[in-house]
Amino acid sequence: MGKDMTEDQAGRLAPVITVDGPSGAGKGTVSRLLAQRFGWHLLDSGALYRLLALAAMERGIALDAEQALESLARELDVRFESGEGGSERIVMDGREVSGEIRSEECGEAASRVAANPAARRGLVALQRAFRKAPGLVADGRDMGTVIFPEAPLKVFLTASAGERARRRHKQLKEKGISANLAELESAIAERDRRDRERASSPLVPADDAVHLYTTRMSISEVVDELHRLAASRLGVGGSPGEPE
Ligand code: DC
Repeated sequence: MGKDMTEDQAGRLAPVITVDGPSGAGKGTVSRLLAQRFGWHLLDSGALYRLLALAAMERGIALDAEQALESLARELDVRFESGEGGSERIVMDGREVSGEIRSEECGEAASRVAANPAARRGLVALQRAFRKAPGLVADGRDMGTVIFPEAPLKVFLTASAGERARRRHKQLKEKGISANLAELESAIAERDRRDRERASSPLVPADDAVHLYTTRMSISEVVDELHRLAASRLGVGGSPGEPE
């Protein structure tokens, strides 16, 4: 590896906390808040699968194509920026696509792209490039198993399918997108099945992951728990609630 920002001056790799789990388990929100607390970088790897799916659809590339999808993944031109009031702006090929990639249609297409080993291969380098000082919180399905298997803290978050559908419903409503709760629950169950059963990097917890079942936990309780784990395992961030 080159002497870039992924290593500090002593040649140590920037620390990574991986947060994996099924959709709606709270990974995205919790990872963003934890990264903000620590002043670390954030990798929303699901957004990369969504971006790749969108780019493929726009170019008329089939979601099960191999070579074309892998090349497209390697050439993705994406930027994650913070917009007004700390909101996230995702820019692809110079165009803001933050809203577009969160649609159910794009989520479905992303899940199909994610089942494609060539597409997954194509996204590996881009994901690893997010590991920069002072540290990274990486959110996804295979962060602890495939992308950062040596991460010093791996967390697997989950919650019941009903609770995950309710959270997703609320999230969509806040964005002004209408959705049917029962349909969301069955779409979530179907997507989970596809993510778990795919041959390439299925959604499974790493052997050394800490499991958190978040159905009855608030977001701040989950963030505080991850903060405590990071403080005890990595010696970062002090204690939750204490100034750093
Ligand atoms: O987390 P999300 O809903 O934005 O993810 C979109 C899709 O991408 C979802 O079907 C799971 C898949 N995905 C994956 O296979 N591996 C990742 N590291 C992240 C997401």
